[in-house]
Amino acid sequence: SIIVLDFGSQYTQLIARRLREDKIYCEILPYHTKVEDIQAKNPKGIILSGGPSSVYNEDAYEVDKDVYKMGIPVLGICYGMQRIAVDFGGSVIRSDHHEYGKAELDIVGYPDNISALFKDCDNHRIVWMSHSDRVETLPDGFKVIATSENSPYAAIANDEKRVYALQFHPEVQHSEEGYLMLRNFAKNICGVTEKWKMEHFLKQQIESIRERVGDAKVLCGLSGGVDSSVVAAMLYEAIGDQLIPVFVDNGLLRKGEREQVEEVFKINLKAPLITVDAVDNFLGKLAGVSDPEQKRKIIGHTFIEEFEKEAKKHDGIKFLAQGTLYPDVIESISVNGPSEVIKSHHNVGGLPDWMDFELIEPLRELFKDEVRKIGFELGLPEGMINRHPFPGPGLAIRIMGDVNVPDLDLLREADVILLDELKASGYYAKTWQAFAVLLNVKSVGVMGDNRTYDNTVCVRVVEAVDGMTATFAHLPHDLLERISRRIINEVDGINRVVYDISSKPPATIEWE
Ligand code: XMP
Repeated sequence: SIIVLDFGSQYTQLIARRLREDKIYCEILPYHTKVEDIQAKNPKGIILSGGPSSVYNEDAYEVDKDVYKMGIPVLGICYGMQRIAVDFGGSVIRSDHHEYGKAELDIVGYPDNISALFKDCDNHRIVWMSHSDRVETLPDGFKVIATSENSPYAAIANDEKRVYALQFHPEVQHSEEGYLMLRNFAKNICGVTEKWKMEHFLKQQIESIRERVGDAKVLCGLSGGVDSSVVAAMLYEAIGDQLIPVFVDNGLLRKGEREQVEEVFKINLKAPLITVDAVDNFLGKLAGVSDPEQKRKIIGHTFIEEFEKEAKKHDGIKFLAQGTLYPDVIESISVNGPSEVIKSHHNVGGLPDWMDFELIEPLRELFKDEVRKIGFELGLPEGMINRHPFPGPGLAIRIMGDVNVPDLDLLREADVILLDELKASGYYAKTWQAFAVLLNVKSVGVMGDNRTYDNTVCVRVVEAVDGMTATFAHLPHDLLERISRRIINEVDGINRVVYDISSKPPATIEWE
């Protein structure tokens, strides 16, 4: 296997994911893992991830230096590169040129005399940089294997020690052929041969759930989305009737969603679904709250409160199962300490301290497209697998300002028109996510001969592969026009529709 030591980059799991796509088994461990513990896993190679801090800070994150003496290849990425440079006697400085975004890579010795890391790569491909520090002096024994316009040391290597380092991020989707570099490292340089497969993952998870749960019961929070549906199906395979699936109507759902979810689960889930009507509890607690993080925390807590109330009605419930994915984790908390909190996803950063359940989160290391593959393995229907993501905090984070019933109703009407039009035009299937946001910005309009002073709806449609990065969808103008016309004509109280043309980063997909 390959061990990835995590220094807190937003992209660490993408390294693991790229390797999994190549069927290479890997594990992510905190950067401070002791060399004995790494050795115990018998890895064939080590990758040092990126991270937000600087190597010259006093409390900079360090790696157990004996890692370099294990006799297996090491690859450093961004912070990992700077770590290697310093650990081997070179130096790193804060650069005047911050480099964020695209850079063109120039491979030294191309085409006949290139580093093994770049085997089969083309020259002058785009890679993604995101750093403000850079290597200033190379450590002894290292040579430059690629440059870019702003980085004379875009990639360096010490062939004898088999230590490699990249200033850019080969793991992000926007680095062309970055996946090839990771593959070259793992397969050619480290010689990894074992195969990682989704069926193995599924089998392994089902077995470990069965073992952990014993004869206790598990309450599984279902939302109707693919993640929790996959978790429920896995649990049913593992523990059968010890599974108690619960769907909480929090009053923040889309139009008709509760009925749809109940219908779908009646057909597709063997355990009987319990619906909890918690509309008053959620809306009561949210009344007058407009800060996004506060909304998220209240919703997270109220979910747990409702789950605990329901659990009291059954004997022997010890666990709560959720469809938490890796992007929820990385944006909400710092997994091993070092990463930044972006927003508190309701099921991770929004969990209360007083919770009594133990958590079961079998998808915690995966991305949504990987979860969809598991859904297919489990035989879930396509409509369920390909549903757009819908966040647990629901419409509450799509209403700017405080959340109330009239605004929820207004947003629901606009949202359902958007979804209708996208489905009819085939764009629902082509996009990652689509929704309306109620901006609570009023503007002047004229309808008939009358002046209006009404609310604005923002339409957000994005394309993404895993939700970590996203671009706005280039919808045809006539489709946008139809959506806008229908919303303004059919939803009383909306006189303006705008289209969100921001990408993630620097925006996020949701508005809050
Ligand atoms: P952002 O807004 O962070 O969203 O770019 C990335 C993806 O995550 C979804 N999302 C959530 N899902 N609970 C969830 O279950 C949450 O609290 C939450 N916040 C965002 C979002 O809809 C998008 O698909």
